[in-house]
Amino acid sequence: MDSLSIEGGIPLHGEVTISGAKNAVLPIMAATLLTAEPCIIRRVPDLSDVKFMAQILTSLGAEVKLEGNTLEVRAARIKGVGDYDLIRKMRGSICIMGPLLGRLRQATVSLPGGCIIGARPINLHLKGFAALGAEIKVEGGYVHAKAERLTGADLFLGGRAGSTVLGTANVMMAATLADGVTVIESAACEPEVVDVANFLIAMGAKITGAGSPTITITGVKELHGADHEVIPDRIEAATYALAAAATNGEVKILGARPDHLSAVFDKMRDAGVRITRHGAALTVSRGGDLKSVDVTTLPYSGFPTDAQAQMMVLMALTPGISIITERIFESRFMHVSELARLGAEIDIEGPSAIVKGGRPLSGAPVMASDLRASAALVIAGLAARGTTQVNRVYHLDRGYENIDGKLRQLGARVARVEET
Ligand code: EPU
Repeated sequence: MDSLSIEGGIPLHGEVTISGAKNAVLPIMAATLLTAEPCIIRRVPDLSDVKFMAQILTSLGAEVKLEGNTLEVRAARIKGVGDYDLIRKMRGSICIMGPLLGRLRQATVSLPGGCIIGARPINLHLKGFAALGAEIKVEGGYVHAKAERLTGADLFLGGRAGSTVLGTANVMMAATLADGVTVIESAACEPEVVDVANFLIAMGAKITGAGSPTITITGVKELHGADHEVIPDRIEAATYALAAAATNGEVKILGARPDHLSAVFDKMRDAGVRITRHGAALTVSRGGDLKSVDVTTLPYSGFPTDAQAQMMVLMALTPGISIITERIFESRFMHVSELARLGAEIDIEGPSAIVKGGRPLSGAPVMASDLRASAALVIAGLAARGTTQVNRVYHLDRGYENIDGKLRQLGARVARVEET
């Protein structure tokens, strides 16, 4: 498995352009299954998760063409049974279920299973499909959903940790082709859900309220092809902004949507980071001494769980005590033990990490456990003295387009070491 070798201690300087959002493009790719007509998706990030989703679409019978950052999908004739092993490997693949159910009135997919950041159940997705009239059966590791008729319904998608992002997208996609009106209460408000809704609207769906906790979908008989540009990745932007601050550099971020980043930027500003806007560009640098801040992850528009690990690194570099509380996933602190190898002092108390910041970090070999933990280790390596080897780089390639290239462009000394 490839690793990244990072020579730390160099402040990042220069410009970086943000790619399309992973968590928007995956359900948007799934949504192309709702029509037999060709769909064009632009600003598609070059990620292994995208290639993986393309394979899933192909295995269902769709024609998929990826040229640069533009994807064309034509799902003229598709089947409703997904490949067991392909689907099981990637959590995001669960969102093919809503489109298959909507278009074919049946869907069979393997259970996506748990993952390193928590149990990640799909009960809310299934509750939504059942409310639309689908019969759900779990058998032999597969979930089967079948409906003679899909009928619009009023449903509540709130769960233990609040709303569900992919669950909202999944049920919304199925409901576009149901008979009658569906109202989703406690819907996820994340920008990625809005982007999926906008793609569906471009396909002819009737949806209002996306971005609010109440989404109303009036079913239509069929959807048509559409041409859509994916929103920029707010978590990628947050990651580069935090890397700029952690290394005491100055980075211009191009192509991001600052309105999607309010919670992250608010905390960063409280922590003493300067973020200025000039037209479409954002410049991030330290305004002076850093100050410790407490952070709690929440559904949008709160602080995103996907930026928690990266923010923790900034706090590990900041003198004082910071309490970081994770409210979305139960075990998303896998980076803590690896950050300790670099010299960070962090204790875990239930859902909170107590960061005793300000100790100097020094490079070490570390093992990434998931995508955002890996991003945090990269930031820590960039800020640490000496060499940090981040192993299992495939996690980063799932969610960050050309991360080593983009960092090198900012002056970082980062090399990809291929395993021989
Ligand atoms: N939940 C349930 N039942 C369900 C679904 C979710 O109890 O049926 C719980 C989860 O266990 C969790 C909470 O609800 O406690 C929120 O999970 P959510 O369903 O919103 O997560 P997701 O849709 O599976 C997406 C992103 C994640 C991101 C979360 C939260 C994709 C492909 N994944 O996951 O992204 O952390 O929303 O914002 O869109 C990442 O990019 O690194 C990543 C993990």
